[in-house]
Amino acid sequence: MYHIFEPRTDAELEAYFDFRWQMLNKPLQLPKGSEQDGYDPHAMHRMIKDKNGEPLAVGRVYVNDADEAQIRYMAVSTGRRGEGIGAMLLSALETAAQQEGAKRIVLLSRIKAIPFFKKFDYQAVEKEPSRMEGIQLLQMIKDLSPAKSMLRVPELCSELETVWAEQIPISEKMGINVYQYTGQRFETRASLHANVNTKQAMFAGSIYSQATLTAWGLCWLKLREQGLQGEIVVAKGKISYRQPVIEQPRAVILQQHIDGSFDGLKKGHKVKVKVTVTIISGDVEAADFVGLFILFPK
Ligand SMILES: CC(C)(COP(=O)(O)OP(=O)(O)OC[C@H]1O[C@@H](n2cnc3c(N)ncnc32)[C@H](O)[C@@H]1OP(=O)(O)O)[C@@H](O)C(=O)NCCC(=O)NCCS
Repeated sequence: MYHIFEPRTDAELEAYFDFRWQMLNKPLQLPKGSEQDGYDPHAMHRMIKDKNGEPLAVGRVYVNDADEAQIRYMAVSTGRRGEGIGAMLLSALETAAQQEGAKRIVLLSRIKAIPFFKKFDYQAVEKEPSRMEGIQLLQMIKDLSPAKSMLRVPELCSELETVWAEQIPISEKMGINVYQYTGQRFETRASLHANVNTKQAMFAGSIYSQATLTAWGLCWLKLREQGLQGEIVVAKGKISYRQPVIEQPRAVILQQHIDGSFDGLKKGHKVKVKVTVTIISGDVEAADFVGLFILFPK
């Protein structure tokens, strides 16, 4: 069982930087302190520990500008490489960058790590690595925008995000965005960081809000896709919390979990639709929400 988290306390940050030094700088005979730079206080850090609290991996992502983030100082414990921990860490760093709105990620890869980054769609910017900071490094880049290709109606999905931001301001504070819409499957993701309680799990009220917003958002998308106008009102909502949400919260609705039809709106009737949302933490189904929505013709 791994624990991915953001080091925040003095003790966590000390362990984080010490691990960074042990893995990346010490082997190059660089002194303690050389592992930190002036961007650290403003960057996002992620660390993975094992069940005994031993550090397994660290990495940092820094937002360079509105579109670009840079991953640096990423390392997995020497004896634990090749077990998928680097992949898990990279995904956490990319998610953090995406939540800050980054459209691409740049990094300087050590020669040995190039195949690792290539595996995750990073492309070399130059043909040959250059000697920088005393070692050979290759500049690489990954475009994060292809995630949008998982969207069937990307313009409507972005419009929905704007509607949420304007009409339901909590959605922005919670970092909710549309991750996937295929017609058969709708998934939103939220920021765990913005919604944690004192136990570092997602606050129950936020889980409920994400589920409600997701179901509301799906109704909105379905209406717009069919060229219909309607006011969407939540009439009932029931949630069962099964497991804590300790990884990035995902809310998923499958087509078969939408009970009801929007057709009545075409004739100017109000319609009732029951929507079931599953909240997922990592691969674990953590909560189920069933909402009854009434759509009034406009
Ligand atoms: C690069 C690094 C972070 C990778 O971490 P890791 O935990 O070993 O990587 P994973 O086990 O998650 O590997 C994910 C995939 O990449 C592949 N991969 C990882 N390192 C690889 C390498 N050096 N060459 C070829 N493939 C590699 C794995 O085989 C795996 O493929 P699979 O999904 O098909 O099985 C780790 O080796 C490391 O800390 N290296 C030293 C520091 C470093 O170079 N940091 C990079 C920043 S410059």
